[in-house]
Amino acid sequence: MLVAAVTPSNRSARQPHTGVCRTARRALLMALLALWLPLPASAQAAPTFSRDVAPIVFRSCAPCHRSGGPGPFPLTTYAEVRQRATLIATVTRSRYMPPWKVDAGLGPFVGQHPLTSAELDTIDRWSHAGAPEGDPHETPSLPPQPDGWLLGTPDLQVTVPEAFVLDPVPSDVFRIFAIRIPVTKRTYVRGIEFHPGNARVVHHANIRVDRTSNTRLLDAADPLPGYEGLMPRSAEYPSGHFLGWTPGQVAPLVEPDLAWPLEPGSDLVVQLHLQPSGAVERVQPTIGFYFSDEPPRRIPTVLRLGSQSIAIAPGDPHYVIRDAYTLPVDMTLLAMQPHAHYRAREIRGTATLPDGSTTTLMHISDWDFRWQHVYRLEKPVPLPKGTRLAMEFTYDNSADNVRNPVQPPGQVWWGQRSRDEMGDLWFQLVANTDADRRVIDAEILQKMTAEDIRGYETMLTVDPNDVELHDDVAVLYLGLHRVTDAVAHFQASVRLRPASATAQFNLGTALMMAGQTADAIVALRTAIERKPDYILARNNLGRALLVQGNTGAAIAELQEALRLDPSDHSVLFNLAEAYAAAGFTNLAVATAERLLRLQPPEALADQVRRRLQQYRRP
Ligand code: HEC
Repeated sequence: MLVAAVTPSNRSARQPHTGVCRTARRALLMALLALWLPLPASAQAAPTFSRDVAPIVFRSCAPCHRSGGPGPFPLTTYAEVRQRATLIATVTRSRYMPPWKVDAGLGPFVGQHPLTSAELDTIDRWSHAGAPEGDPHETPSLPPQPDGWLLGTPDLQVTVPEAFVLDPVPSDVFRIFAIRIPVTKRTYVRGIEFHPGNARVVHHANIRVDRTSNTRLLDAADPLPGYEGLMPRSAEYPSGHFLGWTPGQVAPLVEPDLAWPLEPGSDLVVQLHLQPSGAVERVQPTIGFYFSDEPPRRIPTVLRLGSQSIAIAPGDPHYVIRDAYTLPVDMTLLAMQPHAHYRAREIRGTATLPDGSTTTLMHISDWDFRWQHVYRLEKPVPLPKGTRLAMEFTYDNSADNVRNPVQPPGQVWWGQRSRDEMGDLWFQLVANTDADRRVIDAEILQKMTAEDIRGYETMLTVDPNDVELHDDVAVLYLGLHRVTDAVAHFQASVRLRPASATAQFNLGTALMMAGQTADAIVALRTAIERKPDYILARNNLGRALLVQGNTGAAIAELQEALRLDPSDHSVLFNLAEAYAAAGFTNLAVATAERLLRLQPPEALADQVRRRLQQYRRP
């Protein structure tokens, strides 16, 4: 009711990697045995494509390297793989491919299996032996093909109504689409499958849900499909979940009892990172939804650790951000997603248990902006109350960083555009009980709002005259009950657009909350001068006058507001209060009863009934 509601935005694990050690031991043993035992012929023979290499390539490469996939060429037949045998041996050995950036010993993560040393050796030896095919009858069949839905037939498919035409421009394009989700009642979602519509140019997609019309309006304002710019803050991850898509990734469905609610009237917000191909390309993504029949029994929580006050000097080769949070209740870790832009080099996430031992949950030593994966643990990790989750990201803003998008390097600030920097490690956790979840959700909301505010203050350092930034950060301050800070930003907003009625209204309302009633009245009167039918401003002015004890003026103001909208709940409530304060009991009772006949929300109705009893008391 105050100002447009704004919600803050946006987002032991170490499994001993026995595979490696066991293989190494076996190799040693075999070397010893080889001294005096003749090896069976099959162990001496070079690996073949059919028996040894195809199972690895079909599982770990073909999901991307197939026709229509994001990989630059298919790796689905002997001929295709043989043609690049040496290159394949090189890029797998250097761990450039498959592009799972996390250290091999961590996780394991669903669908993201780094190759084992044994598998690397197999590919190496096969390539050195001249890439023999072996017996084609032994070749396994390829996993199901791309155009089909890997998660099965979706319960609902939505698509961008009109294809976006991507011209062969020289640099990357970021485009945001609001897609109507046609559900008529609250529906529970276990997951989505994203089909890019043109895998050649869609590099990755950020996906959110907007329950307001904000994104839709921005999309409609641009004559072409979608729009370029920032996502509104109301485009959020569904509570407790993160959504996103990178090539080759199909996030598995969550357990039915973890599904997230989708409200009718919501839009799916899809931000595409597009890499022009040199030709004119048409892009039209489709998203499949998978529903759960029942409402969730467990609601996960997302914790975002990170910094929004990033400020990196030009040339700084080693800039570090850190953040940490100690769990107030027992939780179970389900998934993680790191996010940073081009200059980040190393990413680390750890858990320090109450016994003092520290485990690495996430470590990427060679961060690559192109691979923004969600890392979902195959086995959720219990984290007892008192566990300290921590993140540490390192950035290189020197000219030596080949990924630095600005050469020579300049000053870098926190921001959502890819030339700015970000640094967030998202954790998806689930509490054991609803009571525990409420405890942690409230704490996390405070923590993340405080960090969001730092982000706004950083952007305001760069752009001190951005009215929307001032308004948005003021609303966040109000959420933290930091009214004085909110007032300061609304004042800045008034200075920047002195003719705006809304700016005066926001300021007046915040001043009321700060207890500065006289100043509030001045601002609200100014708002009404500028916009005489401003019902909310008249309502708040009436309330302020009432607080001041000026009941006559309050009644006049509220009566005028009621004339403008005879069924406004707030106005009726405040008018009844004003009548009661002035001693007009009958009018107070009649007004309150009129409000009750309008069937206001239950919480308000309760309050009105209690006030009615007091009005009637002699
Ligand atoms: C998640 C999707 C994905 C997976 C899985 C994947 N690749 Fe790739 N691969 C790509 C993309 C995209 C490129 C092109 C961009 C690049 O070179 O970084 C690429 C490039 C390559 C290249 C060309 C490198 C160069 O320098 O020209 C080779 C070779 C390759 N992949 C082999 C493999 C092999 C072998 C596997 C499996 C062991 C594999 N890829 C798994 C997406 C994937």
